[in-house]
Amino acid sequence: MMLYDNHGRIINYLRIAVTDRCNLRCQYCMPEEGIDYVNRSHLLTYEEIERIVTLFASLGINKIRITGGEPFLRKGLMECIDRINQIEGIDSIHITTNGTLTKDLIPRFEEIGIKSVNLSLDSLDAERFKMITRRDDLDKVMESLTLLVEHDIKTKINMVVMNQKNIEDILPMIELTKYLPISVRFLEEMPFNGSGIHDQMALWSHKDILDFIKKKHTGALQLESEPNSTSVNYKIPGYDGSFGIIASYSRSFCGTCNRLRLTPTGLMKTCLYDAGIFNIKDMMRAGANDDELKTALLSAVGSRAKDGREAEQRRADDLISESMATIGG
Ligand code: GTP
Ligand code: 5AD
Ligand code: SF4
Repeated sequence: MMLYDNHGRIINYLRIAVTDRCNLRCQYCMPEEGIDYVNRSHLLTYEEIERIVTLFASLGINKIRITGGEPFLRKGLMECIDRINQIEGIDSIHITTNGTLTKDLIPRFEEIGIKSVNLSLDSLDAERFKMITRRDDLDKVMESLTLLVEHDIKTKINMVVMNQKNIEDILPMIELTKYLPISVRFLEEMPFNGSGIHDQMALWSHKDILDFIKKKHTGALQLESEPNSTSVNYKIPGYDGSFGIIASYSRSFCGTCNRLRLTPTGLMKTCLYDAGIFNIKDMMRAGANDDELKTALLSAVGSRAKDGREAEQRRADDLISESMATIGG
């Protein structure tokens, strides 16, 4: 079974944010004091998540990403991932994490067969890491990175590029790929910082980032990307790994968008930039059967915005004020 949206795009990828809590306070995601975390009783339970994945898998979803907040703040997550992995139709499970709590779990990732891990890491310098995340945890993330590579788990680093904060880290991040078979991806900053204040965003566009890198690496070659890739990817001849740039704010890849999103409280989003289409947890808790859930999903997928600009325009609130921790990236 294949699921298509109203623009003819195949939908096969569901991103599940399992919690909005986080142990870091990255400036681009949350204010210093954090956000008002949702009451645990409003979170999707693991049983609810597994029911949703089973249903969606029967409709054509085969790729799952577990994200957050920091997903591993939620107890028992590995067991839930293990069960999701066994659901018929699910081909691959991926994780996005800040890497501060994962050290002891990485052998399990390998055992279960996690297909890839994306580590959020915005600086390789302890001081700048602390300034950006407001926590002193760089060592833990680096330990996770080393272990991921040792366990042969495909790894990507996501670095949000911010003027006057971590431009100095762009080239050292690329140097990581000289000897490590990883991909480092540079992201445009988006307005999901939980404050509704956007004037501090000094956008480095994907073009600014590429121009900056090409000044040093004139020989970087563009790679052929996977069909639904969010990043445009490059390789420096002789380097083990590669780097990529994600135009997350410019939104140049919507034409091939294959993603749905489920927030920690069960809101279904058909675009990162929409305000949420319907709440599947509320439907389930009101007793909806699988056919009713399926009808709601097909209706949402059948009236999807054509791109992130249209999704943003459709919002009733004209200002994005939510934190990325409530969306999952
Ligand atoms: P892969 O499955 O490895 O390609 O990962 P991904 O890029 O889908 O996921 P990841 O969680 O690593 O996201 C990296 C960055 O890309 C995050 O900042 C996301 O918010 C952004 N991103 C992912 N999907 C979309 C999308 O559909 N639209 C936009 N605008 N940004 C996205
Ligand atoms: N802008 C761009 N990327 C962001 N992320 C979180 N908040 C933002 C933002 N405001 C990224 C994180 C993580 C990914 C899922 O989303 O770096 O790697
Ligand atoms: Fe998909 Fe919306 Fe992201 Fe575009 S902005 S790629 S439509 S989620």
